[in-house]
Amino acid sequence: MSNKNTAANINGRMFRDVMGLFATGVTVVTADLEGETHGMTANAITSLSLDPLLVLVCVQKDAMMAGILQQAGAFAISILSADQEHLSNFFAGIWPDGADPPPFSFEPWVGGGRLHGSIGALACKIDKFLDGGDHWIITGLVVDLYRQDSPTDPLIYYTGRYYGLGRLS
Ligand SMILES: Cc1cc2nc3c(=O)[nH]c(=O)nc-3n(C[C@H](O)[C@H](O)[C@H](O)COP(=O)(O)O)c2cc1C
Repeated sequence: MSNKNTAANINGRMFRDVMGLFATGVTVVTADLEGETHGMTANAITSLSLDPLLVLVCVQKDAMMAGILQQAGAFAISILSADQEHLSNFFAGIWPDGADPPPFSFEPWVGGGRLHGSIGALACKIDKFLDGGDHWIITGLVVDLYRQDSPTDPLIYYTGRYYGLGRLS
């Protein structure tokens, strides 16, 4: 099967516009390397398997985080709360040049530092790096879980903007 998109009437912009309608939570993927915790904002996260417990995260091949994950062999996923929009931007590199970083801290954890204030988190050992076009599909074997006692609202990403949770029922 060809891996080329054959329809001439679609493009990356339209793809992003359609995928942007798929509302997601927002996470920061972290990995510890040489005594430092590195983080990258990611919403391409999926629960993959219950037996064994697996998650997947898709990481741009040319992102610094791809190389860090390859070396670290483990990672953590911190699920952001609605009041952590600024941390989503910071860990996505959307931050004014020269501005002080926002206050944040990591709780030392297996896999990678866990972001304080996150509503839930998963610690993973890297299982596989699979080819996914311009991204790596990284599967992680879950080795630890964290859940806030009474989770506050999650941060939602939809049509390229942030939202809180608007409950329907
Ligand atoms: C809400 C949001 C979700 C994102 N999700 C992903 C993702 O799932 N995978 C990814 O590779 N980049 C994602 N990004 C972009 C990366 O966070 C950004 O390109 C990265 O921090 C740049 O890192 P670099 O300096 O290592 O290249 C997302 C950005 C935002 C704002």
